[in-house]
Amino acid sequence: MKSVPGKIILFGEHAVVYGQPAIAVPLQAVQASAAAEVAPSGTGLIVHAPDLGQTLCYDDCTDTDPLYSALLYPLCVTLRRLNQPVPDLTLTVHSTIPIASGLGSGAAVAAALIRELVSALGANLDDTAINELVYEVEKRHHGTPSGIDNTVIVFNRPVYFVRGQPIATFQIAQPFTLLVGDTGQGSPTKLAVGDVRQLYDADPDRLTPLFSRIGDIARAARAAIESGAVDSLGPLMDENHALLRDMTVSSDDLDRLCAAARQAGALGAKLSGGGRGGNMIALVTPDTADRVRA
Ligand code: MEV
Repeated sequence: MKSVPGKIILFGEHAVVYGQPAIAVPLQAVQASAAAEVAPSGTGLIVHAPDLGQTLCYDDCTDTDPLYSALLYPLCVTLRRLNQPVPDLTLTVHSTIPIASGLGSGAAVAAALIRELVSALGANLDDTAINELVYEVEKRHHGTPSGIDNTVIVFNRPVYFVRGQPIATFQIAQPFTLLVGDTGQGSPTKLAVGDVRQLYDADPDRLTPLFSRIGDIARAARAAIESGAVDSLGPLMDENHALLRDMTVSSDDLDRLCAAARQAGALGAKLSGGGRGGNMIALVTPDTADRVRA
């Protein structure tokens, strides 16, 4: 069985699509997993997703099926890459990562399925090759993904990510605690990314400085994390959230959760991921964690 984590974007979502740096970390509290079982000859490739109450047969599905991109396309790109015929295999997939909520559900489910299929076929692909395959799936989900979600999930380590550049990680000089708060509202990343694209195309002179400032924040945050200046991350999170709100990707509930977290003593708070719904993160200390959680 292969399990992979979800992810949190600490700084830089959306601006990262336009070449600015962003910082993301794996989120081990939620996981996607896939387990393969050899099936009788002639059965074909079956994906069983009990959490969704769905069983899909690789050969019978078309790419217009709503779950094709999430559950079958990862297998399609893998078989193509390995140049292998469709095997007789049942893959059972589970996920505790809420769907369309900024925690990397799509990339994690794809990564778990791809890793398990590669292993069941006795093949060997390194993380770079797996990452390329998950990115193929991400492109199908999102249109123009930066690649940060698949990278942090496949490599399973903190990343300082700049589109098109080699993966960089960073040292965390002093541990810090983030509380993740779910609005309970799903919102597909593709829509938010598409709307930002429209805003940018309509008025690049307004959007470019917002992206640049978010890039500055991500650079300053990396320096703060590497030097252990954890307290200074709070104001950077607040400013990053305000800029994301200016880009229209926050929501009333995200703003309310962030304000409530700050009021309860969080050092800073922001939406995380595509926005419009999904999750926020708040920087807490041992003294404030319980109050903020409440
Ligand atoms: C989604 O987790 C992060 C976005 O920046 C999109 C992307 O980077 O592809 C909103």
